[in-house]
Order: sequence, then C-alpha cells, then structure tokens
Amino acid sequence: MNLETTALPPRTLPSDQDASGRTFGEREIAHVTEALASGTLTSTKGRFVRALERTFADMLGAKHAYACSSGSAAVHCALAALDLEPGDEVITSPITDMGALAPILYQGAIPVFADVNPRSLNVTAESIAAVLSERTRAIVVTHLFGTPCDMKPIESLAKEKNLPIVEDCAQAFLATHRDRYVGTIGRIGTFSLQQGKHITTGEGGLVVTNDDALARRIFLFINKAWGYGDDNPDHYFLALNYRMSELQGAVGLAQLEKLERAVERRVLLASILTKWLEGVPGIEVPQQPLDARGVFWRYAIRLDSAIFPGGPQAFAAKLKDRSILTAPRYIQKPAFECAVIRDQRTFGTSRWPFTLARPEAVRYDRERYPGVYGGLDAVLVIPWNDRLSIGDVEYIARSIITTARLLRRVA
Ligand SMILES: Cc1ncc(COP(=O)(O)O)c(C=O)c1O
Repeated sequence: MNLETTALPPRTLPSDQDASGRTFGEREIAHVTEALASGTLTSTKGRFVRALERTFADMLGAKHAYACSSGSAAVHCALAALDLEPGDEVITSPITDMGALAPILYQGAIPVFADVNPRSLNVTAESIAAVLSERTRAIVVTHLFGTPCDMKPIESLAKEKNLPIVEDCAQAFLATHRDRYVGTIGRIGTFSLQQGKHITTGEGGLVVTNDDALARRIFLFINKAWGYGDDNPDHYFLALNYRMSELQGAVGLAQLEKLERAVERRVLLASILTKWLEGVPGIEVPQQPLDARGVFWRYAIRLDSAIFPGGPQAFAAKLKDRSILTAPRYIQKPAFECAVIRDQRTFGTSRWPFTLARPEAVRYDRERYPGVYGGLDAVLVIPWNDRLSIGDVEYIARSIITTARLLRRVA
C-alpha cells in the first residue's frame, strides 16, 4: 500500500457517545414501546430483563445471568456473593475503572494490587502470585480493552490456592480464551452496559455464573436480599437495590441481537489496522494470548520512547489535529494513586476498611509496579467502533503512520 504522506482531509469518526457509533434501531424502539405500553417498568414484574438475562446466559453457555444497574454494581454483586470477611484481601489490577475497585472496599475488603504485563496491561499469574498472602480470598482479573488475560496459568494458580476468580469483562463481551467465553472461565463474570461499551443500555450490568449458590446470592444482592418467592421471605443480609429497569432491559434485549456482529466487525477492522501498522518502526500492535480472541473495545498500541521521544502525548496531540481522539496513558494514573485509595478516603474519617489492612498490602511503591508504570507510559489507546468504515480504518492507519514519520527521532 502506498503510504506517502499525502494530505488527508480530516474525517469525523463514529463516536460511541452518540448515534454515529451506536446501533439503536427499530428493535430497540419496538421493545421500549412494548414495555411502556405494558405499564410495567420494574423488572420484578416485567418480561424484558428476564429475557435479557436468559438470552445472555444462553449466548455464553452460562447457567445463570443476572442484570443489574451498572458494571460497578455487577462487580459488587460478584464480591458480595463471595461473602468476604472484613479485612480479607482481593487481588486486582490497578489499571481498571474505579467502579471495579470501590465494591471491594464497600464489602470491607482490601484491594491488593498486582502488577501488569506492560504489553497487555493485564495482570498475570506471576504478578498475582507475587502479592498472594494468607489473607487472600479472591482474584479479580480485568480483560482490559477486550484482550483476555492469559487465563490458563491464572486458573492453575487459583486452583492450587483454592481461590475464586472473578472476571471483569466490562470491556470484553464475547472474548474467548481456549474456546471458552471470558466470564465463564472463573467462578463469576461481570459485564458493563454503560454508554461506551460493545453494546449498551446507557447504564447497566450483567453477572454470570455456573454456581447455583453464588447465583442465589447474586440475585438476592440485586434485590435488597429479599427472598422473593420464598415461603417466609426476609431481608436475609445487607444489600441494596441494584435492579435494572424494564426500559433498559428492553433496549438490552435488542442490543444483544447485535452483539455477535458488532464483535466480529470490531475484530475484522482491528485485523485490517494491524496489517497497516505491523512493521512500522517504534509501534507495537496489540497481541492476544495464544488461543484467545480479543474483542477490541479499544485498539491499544505501544510506542517505543527511544524512537518517539515525545511519547504517546505527542502522538495524541498530532492525531487530535486529524480528529482522532486517542487516550495517551489510557488512565492518567494507577488506581492506587487516586485519593480514595492513596489517602484512604472511605467512610467519614475512619479510613475503614484500610485500618484492617496489613501494612504490606497497602504499600504502593513505584518499584513494585514496573509493568504498570512502563505500560502506561507507552500506551496510546485508539477509540474503536464497529461502525467504522474500511475507509475510516485506512484514515486512522495513514494518520498514525504519517505521525510516526513526523515524530520519529532523527538519528
Ligand atoms: C474494566 C471495567 N470495570 C468496571 C467498569 C464499571 O462499569 P460501569 O461504568 O458500568 O459501572 C468499567 C467501566 O465503565 C470498566 O471499564
């Protein structure tokens, strides 16, 4: 392909924040209309949320799926289902959304951060093993950007230590690892239906499990732990109302019909961009673990700072001039540098549950996290969308290649 730096007229790329990059259509409208006409907008009585749950469970081959109000709520349900004791430790990633970490603290547990592979920004069996302690009670893995973690060694470790794995699949709908959908590899899988995800209900979440006892606790946690349908129901334990409404369920059911196609399109478009970028000096294209299908919530490249002295920031500034809004570093800082964790700002001035933590568990020295800092310094996250055209992908590719030429260190 001819990659000469001809002037590229700027393009407006589809955005997942509006109709240009979302797929709401007649099905969603018909379902929402039906929900409204029925007069029943609570999922305790309506049909849509139940249908969404059944359809999603069947799609993944999971025994149970429950819908809830957000991806954060989904992670909260998973941790509540595990019935942790205050002060228990949950190993997790510092490169994730705070919505995946706050639930650990709300359950009185301590998030213990594993380092990540600087290439994938995902936790690994080695980095998890390095922070295990006698207080570890669960492992949360995040399949960042839709790239599955390398699950086989993580599963072996979890089995050896008898620890449940929660998979945070907020960014990884229908990603697979060794022919299994992520979310069904661990004991519990969680998903987000927030505006910018593969499919959306605006806000929303899903939780899947094959374990009947955990499923029961997840259902209860969504419903103030009220024993619906029981002979002698009660509020069995502390829990909130995390229910999804029928309006969201109506949209979600229609969105599910589009999921496989959206994922396939994202994967295909990513393979085209990869072909363009492979071999460009200083740029590393995303890699998937062996036998895995990544589903490209975002397309993350790594930039070699020896070749591009300005790093991802300089790259992002140039791409912005071409209306490509990338995210250098992805998140500005690892989660443990955010005030809630760094300054232990939790309940009043109590600092609880951090007051229960081993000193070692809350030490976030930079040298413990070479993968986190190295990875964040190098990553440039390109927005991705199944509504991109082949022409859009070519435009992104050419813009990146042109930028690489401009910013390359002159020897
Ligand atoms: C990896 C990850 N986990 C959890 C969440 C929380 O989901 P929500 O925003 O739906 O609460 C998000 C994103 O939003 C996420 O990207």
